[in-house]
Amino acid sequence: MEKVISGIRPTGNLHLGNYFGAVKSFVKMQDEYDCMFFIADWHSLTTHPTPEDIRRSVRTILSEYLACGIDPEKAPIYVQSDVKPVLELYLYLNMNAYLGELERVTSFKEKARTQPDNVNAGLLTYPTLMAADVLAHKADKVPVGKDQEQNMEMMRLFARRFNRIYKVEYFKEPESFHFNQKAVKVPGLNGSGKMGKSEGNAIYLCDDEATIKKKVMRAVTDAGPTMLNQEKPEVIQNLFSLMELVSTPDTYAYFDDQYNNMSIRYGDLKKQLAADINAFCAPIRERIQAYQKDEDYLNRVAKMGAERATAGAEKTLQEVRQIIGFGK
Ligand code: TRP
Repeated sequence: MEKVISGIRPTGNLHLGNYFGAVKSFVKMQDEYDCMFFIADWHSLTTHPTPEDIRRSVRTILSEYLACGIDPEKAPIYVQSDVKPVLELYLYLNMNAYLGELERVTSFKEKARTQPDNVNAGLLTYPTLMAADVLAHKADKVPVGKDQEQNMEMMRLFARRFNRIYKVEYFKEPESFHFNQKAVKVPGLNGSGKMGKSEGNAIYLCDDEATIKKKVMRAVTDAGPTMLNQEKPEVIQNLFSLMELVSTPDTYAYFDDQYNNMSIRYGDLKKQLAADINAFCAPIRERIQAYQKDEDYLNRVAKMGAERATAGAEKTLQEVRQIIGFGK
C-alpha cells in the first residue's frame, strides 16, 4: 500500500472550510493508503509560541481530528517533536541545502517581509525540516494545499541531491496530492470568497449553537431578486453553497425555488441554514468536547503514533547513517 504522510500546522481551531477540504480528504485517505498524520510543533517554533500555546494546540488538534473521524488505529497521529530521528535527518539534509535556494523560497521571503524582527534560521530551513518529516518515512504521497508546492519541490530536490551525492537510489521523490483542487469551495459568511481564519468569516467546528446562529444571521445579503430565475450574486450564492454542504437536497431545492420565483425571505433561509449547520456540527462538537476532557486517551493516541513513527524513522536513519559513512 502506498504511504501517505502529512503535517498539520497548529493554527487554531478547525472551521467548516478545513473540514470540507483537508480533513475530509484525510479521513477518506486513511482507508485507501497507509497514512500517518503529525502535528508540526517543531515547525511552529519559528513563530515563538509559549509552552502553554504548544500544549493547548496539541490537545486541540488531536481532539478535533479524532472527532472528525481520523482513526488512530488506521492512521497513526503523532506529535512531530516525539519522533527524534527526524531531527537527525534534518541535520544531514541541511548540510546539502544552500543559502541561496532557501532564501529564494516564496514563503521565506514573505515571512522575512512580514516579521522582519524574527528572520530566524528555523524559518530559513523550514523546507529541510519538512523534507526530513517525509523522507524519514519514505512516503509516496503528501496531501498538501497548493501553498505548499514550493516546499514539496524543495523536498524532491533534496531527495535527488542526496542520491546524487552518495551515488545511491535511496530516497524516492514524494508526490504532492492536492486536495484543494477537488475539494468543494466553502465560502465565508461576509461575501468575500473562501472561509478562512484570517478572513474572520469562519464557522468553527467547536462553535456552539448560539454562536453559529449569530454568525449566520449576520451574513451579508442583498435586497432580494428583482427578476424571475436570475443568477445569484456572490453573497447569495455563498449561502446556497453552504446549504448544499449541510442541508438536505429538499431544503436546498425549496429555497432555490423561492429565490427563482422571488418569494424568498433571507431571514428564513438563514434560520434554516443556521439550524442545519448546527445539526451537522453538533455531533462533531460533542466528540471534540469529550476528547478534550480525556487527556489519558489523547496521550495514548500520541504515544501509539510516536512509537510507530519512531520505529519507521529510526530504520531509515540507520540506513542513512551507513550511506553517509557513520556507524559500522
Ligand atoms: N508546511 C505544512 C503547512 O504549513 C505543514 C507541514 C510540516 C507538512 N511538515 C510537513 C505538511 C510534511 C506535509 C508534510 O501546512
